[in-house]
Amino acid sequence: MKRIALGFGWLGLAWVGLGLVLPLISDSASAATPAEIAKTEYEEVMALTPDLQNGRKVYITCAVCHRPEGWGTPEGTYPQIAGQLRSVIIKQLADIRARNRDNPLMYPFSMPRILGGAQNIADVAAYVAQLPMNPQNGVGPGTDLELGAKVYKDNCVKCHGNQGQGDEPEHMPAIAGQHFNYLIRQFEAIRDGRRKNSDPKMVEQIKGFSPREEMAVLDYTSRLRPSADRLGPPNWRNPDFQGYVYPGSPGPALPPPPAPAPRP
Ligand code: HEC
Ligand code: HEC
Repeated sequence: MKRIALGFGWLGLAWVGLGLVLPLISDSASAATPAEIAKTEYEEVMALTPDLQNGRKVYITCAVCHRPEGWGTPEGTYPQIAGQLRSVIIKQLADIRARNRDNPLMYPFSMPRILGGAQNIADVAAYVAQLPMNPQNGVGPGTDLELGAKVYKDNCVKCHGNQGQGDEPEHMPAIAGQHFNYLIRQFEAIRDGRRKNSDPKMVEQIKGFSPREEMAVLDYTSRLRPSADRLGPPNWRNPDFQGYVYPGSPGPALPPPPAPAPRP
């Protein structure tokens, strides 16, 4: 009984301490915008050396939605993240958790309590970046590809590259082989100003597009092939996650997951 009372005494003190310190913290935090907070974290993470083994453990959470392969879902609800450039993955994770990019579904899983700190971001980003990509991603109808190729060449090459391969130092996303419906969703969110972390120059570049031009260029983009050494075989399954039960398959019960990743 006495020990419990003592415990509460300490707790009381801790609360008083927190009450004194919190206003100071929130004051200084409110000075930085979500974009600034994300940028600081991006730079911190980029300076770290990634540990792939730990990245695999951290990825257990992500696999639930992005699938063990990181291939997402071809109908585009979940993007393919496998093979995305490391700097882009890090930027998106930092942006999402600083609320510089809205992602209500994923937001809780990006928080330090679940995802961990800068080192875990570095590790999981490196793990995802080295995963082979889906050779059978969701594509468009394929009916207007000549126009798509022209629109792509005139408007996208200078930033996303002639093969949609992106740019690592500039954290410019690779968009080749992404699911068609996901491309549409992001393109329209960027155009309409709903994606906070979008590039103002890209918004400028695409604002005059007709619906036909938009569909054509995104269909073309979904069919751009990542280089052969980046693609996995069709229906590849990630051997790191052998116990994963795929939706619709009458698999065995999940084995206990590996020990959780340490949280710095
Ligand atoms: C509850 C489901 C869920 C979980 C868990 C989840 N994500 Fe996501 N993630 C999403 C959805 C949905 C999107 C796309 C949101 C949108 O449309 O803007 C996304 C987007 C992303 C993107 C941006 C992709 C792009 O090209 O724009 C990255 C990178 C990403 N997730 C990485 C991760 C990592 C790494 C983890 C694990 C730490 C994770 N996600 C966990 C649902 C999830
Ligand atoms: C001036 C440079 C620029 C141009 C031109 C540009 N983009 Fe982008 N785009 C970006 C940047 C930068 C991002 C990522 C912003 C961020 O999240 O940091 C992006 C993001 C995207 C995304 C979302 C990718 C993802 O994984 O979430 C798509 C899709 C996209 N661009 C398609 C296009 C297409 C198609 C064109 C041509 C019609 C185009 N962009 C032209 C710079 C550009």
